[in-house]
Amino acid sequence: MAFDVRSVRDADEFKAAFFGIAQYFGGAPTEERLQRWIDQLTLERMHAAFSDGAIVGGAGAFTFNMTVPGGDVPTAGVTVVGVYPTHRRRGVLRSLMRAQLDDAQERGEPIAALWASEETIYGRFGYGLASWCGEISLAHEYTSFAQPFEPAGTMRLVGPDEALDALPPVFERIRLDWPGMFSRNRLWWEHKEIDDPEDRRDGAGPKRWVVHERDGAIDGYAVYRHKPGWGEGSTIAELRVIEALGGDAGGAPGSLGVPARDRLEGDGQPLDPAAGAPAVPAPGDASSDAVPPGRLPLDSHR
Ligand SMILES: CC(C)(COP(=O)(O)OP(=O)(O)OC[C@H]1O[C@@H](n2cnc3c(N)ncnc32)[C@H](O)[C@@H]1OP(=O)(O)O)[C@@H](O)C(=O)NCCC(=O)NCCS
Repeated sequence: MAFDVRSVRDADEFKAAFFGIAQYFGGAPTEERLQRWIDQLTLERMHAAFSDGAIVGGAGAFTFNMTVPGGDVPTAGVTVVGVYPTHRRRGVLRSLMRAQLDDAQERGEPIAALWASEETIYGRFGYGLASWCGEISLAHEYTSFAQPFEPAGTMRLVGPDEALDALPPVFERIRLDWPGMFSRNRLWWEHKEIDDPEDRRDGAGPKRWVVHERDGAIDGYAVYRHKPGWGEGSTIAELRVIEALGGDAGGAPGSLGVPARDRLEGDGQPLDPAAGAPAVPAPGDASSDAVPPGRLPLDSHR
């Protein structure tokens, strides 16, 4: 059965279309959060499916460029796909996918990409596995540097305003070398990377930004948080790496001081060892600037 699908026309329709995915992940998004979605996706890229005049599902797409081997192409960044539980298994998703892919084609986007929560759904629509990533959970006491390293730069903590200016050029340079990474517009940087509302901290502290400089130029950065904790008479805190790119940034969070019983956490990390990994000094080797080279790709779920 085919359902009518079109772009939403106002914030109320956007909200109704978004309700499909909200039924999956649970929790009601705040008005502020919904507005951020509207600003970033735009109304025209949020498709809604209708049954008897009422919205029963939605599918959105970010507009960005994605790096592929040998190029950088306009891409539909598929997101917030959901069908109301009252209308599943009747072809609503299929109707949404058809309309969304037609729209991407009309816009001249050769690629549609997504991060699937359930990978079994999308193969029938032409999607397939394109890359892997992993999570890391590293107890400080079991870490050590993999290879000797001579630091070749300096690090400096910066505030949100400086981060908003300093990080995007580094990100843009690096992402063009890395298939699967995608461009971020100014709004994305402001809302997702720099803004740091309490409800997105998951019990951890504020975001910290550190830049790596070499010869007076910023060539890498790291973004991280601390989640304080205390147990058995000492710290059992976590250091959460959000993103570490370029320069010696893979080692930045660790080199800035992870107490001896802390744990380093990060998701959306590369499996390619050549890409590096966040590193912390081994016990007894807590030199503040002994960091290995490394970089981590983006984590878009924050
Ligand atoms: C997954 C979901 C979007 C499917 O919507 P739907 O309208 O029921 O799907 P359709 O009826 O259009 O089915 C389209 C095809 O997908 C298949 N399909 C539907 N749900 C599926 C699931 N959970 N897993 C695997 N395949 C599924 C159908 O069998 C059908 O296959 P076919 O046409 O090749 O026979 C819907 O169940 C939903 O909103 N789930 C919760 C949110 C969610 O999972 N979103 C995706 C996150 S990545």
